[in-house]
Amino acid sequence: MSNEAIAKGEAALLRQARDKFVAVFGRQPAAGACAPGRVNLIGEHIDYCEGFVLPVALPFVTLIVGSLNNTTECNLVSVLGTGEVVTTSFPSSKSSVPLVPGAPAWANYIKGVVANFPGGVGGFDAVIVSDVPMGAGLSSSAAIEVATFTLLEALTGNKVGPVQKAKLCQKAEHEFPGMPCGIMDQYIVTMGKKDHALLIDCRSLESQQIPMELGDLAVLVTNSNVKHQLTGSEYPQRRAQCQEAADRLGLPSLRDAKVEDLEKLKAQKVDEVVLMRARHVIEEIARTEEVGRVMKNKDFKRVGELFYQSHDSLSQLMQVSCPELDQIVDIMRGAPGVLGARMTGGGFGGCVVTLAKKSEIENLKKLVLSQYKGKPIFFVSQPSDGARLVKL
Ligand code: GLA
Repeated sequence: MSNEAIAKGEAALLRQARDKFVAVFGRQPAAGACAPGRVNLIGEHIDYCEGFVLPVALPFVTLIVGSLNNTTECNLVSVLGTGEVVTTSFPSSKSSVPLVPGAPAWANYIKGVVANFPGGVGGFDAVIVSDVPMGAGLSSSAAIEVATFTLLEALTGNKVGPVQKAKLCQKAEHEFPGMPCGIMDQYIVTMGKKDHALLIDCRSLESQQIPMELGDLAVLVTNSNVKHQLTGSEYPQRRAQCQEAADRLGLPSLRDAKVEDLEKLKAQKVDEVVLMRARHVIEEIARTEEVGRVMKNKDFKRVGELFYQSHDSLSQLMQVSCPELDQIVDIMRGAPGVLGARMTGGGFGGCVVTLAKKSEIENLKKLVLSQYKGKPIFFVSQPSDGARLVKL
């Protein structure tokens, strides 16, 4: 995707949202905001262990326009990718009716933000549109949360710092959709920067922008286009298993654990599965720090090796991959021009990131199309800016 195509994408979304707002609410919106999806380069299932992660913000955005409506009711209209329009209303945080999670599921992301918005917020009308692929592990949920938060900042004049914004949006996701996510998605979606990856220390919540100067290389994102229907317990279970390992070591999180600590866990006869999770976390934190370091020296061969190691660990030790993701990584492994590949995001479907020679990208797409049993979707990751207001 070229920059021009991206700019057109955002402009088209804005037009669509404004037109819909005028058609439904009979006036112009007062403000608009957007927030991007993200792809994580490395540091997977690590944020909730207070480790390091290295995501980039994508050129796809969720865009929301709206106005306060002088009532205590929030009225939302969402235009889906298919063109279908869905609507819902719920009480604002200034209503006497309590704001609770419930159907429709998509509104919970927004309700959670309203409930956690500092100082509360009265009723508002809003239209949401998005080109962030849904259910692809590209953080469409954080994009909705952070875009909504940014709009509410503009409507109320109440602003918070970026880290606080990310934390409140994470809290919204814990409390309303009920997903006990780490901080990575909301953080990068808030603070992404064009042409940079963000090395986030999920303990101190400090971060460092790492220039993505890839030269003749590119990061190809392959969406497997599968999302396995799981019970929803897998993610919280991984979190709990990691916490169990930390507790057994007497540590607040696995961030402080060393490879030698695995011997201590073995001596305590800790469950084999817990041991596997702990090994993944300890080694993945080290891999992520190393990628942050070697990217600065442009040692992309090493970055690629670490991508493969990360994938194998996620597949075998963390057990969050699936046959489709494994197959795509296997197709990439050894293909001409590929330096490394790994699943990205929460897992059980979603995307693979591949570091490869730009000149081979088209051939790689053909290779995957000819061998992968599913229907993949490709794009080249272009590190983009985080959440922002849009000029109406
Ligand atoms: C999901 C969560 C993140 C992170 C990733 C795995 O995207 O929302 O907090 O834990 O999974 O790295």
